[in-house]
Amino acid sequence: MKLFIDTADPKEIAKLAETGLVDGVTTNPSLAAKTGLDYVESLQEICRTVKGPVSAEVLATETAGMISEGRRFAKIAKNIAIKVPLTWDGLKACRALADDGLMVNVTLCFSPVQAMMAAKAGATFISPFIGRLDDAGQDGMELIHEIRTIYDNYDFKTQILAASVRGIPHVRGAALAGADVATIPPDVFKSLLNHPLTDKGLAVFLADARKAGVRIREE
Ligand code: G3P
Repeated sequence: MKLFIDTADPKEIAKLAETGLVDGVTTNPSLAAKTGLDYVESLQEICRTVKGPVSAEVLATETAGMISEGRRFAKIAKNIAIKVPLTWDGLKACRALADDGLMVNVTLCFSPVQAMMAAKAGATFISPFIGRLDDAGQDGMELIHEIRTIYDNYDFKTQILAASVRGIPHVRGAALAGADVATIPPDVFKSLLNHPLTDKGLAVFLADARKAGVRIREE
């Protein structure tokens, strides 16, 4: 499963990219607002840091505006994926941008039928929002399973990008459900290796070596 970072903060992305485990980035208007930075300048910086897909979300709500904002985003770098909302206008823009050969991420997906429609419109990525479905008392992970089944039934190539990820259980569930990508907020990404037995095990290994004077000699 590919791991994207869900933030518009270029500095945070640069730090996490040092792990060598960041496959892409997703941003949205709310995340851009949090940074207080110019959105396009941030995207330029992010695209210099991360070579994988970087999602940039349109603000227009009708097709023509989305297409023109999408084409402007696409000029930033080759790895821009244009993010459009899951509306009729959004899917029309998706088809036009996909026909231009651009990557499109269709966002705000909350149902399997919406995901099927986005795939038919040529989406490169579909973004089901797991956490927000859980917040609404539904089962976000079930949506990932259903989309996986539909896409496999019809051999749709659209990649399932699990979004609105709130913690390790979501990452685990998305991987088990066969999501192609999970986009992960920085704090959750930093917690992915946490396990008390890893810390405890390492402390014991090092203490044993110290006690016995185990050394690794230089050549
Ligand atoms: O990728 C979508 C994500 O940013 C939404 O997350 O936590 O606001 O539901 P959240």
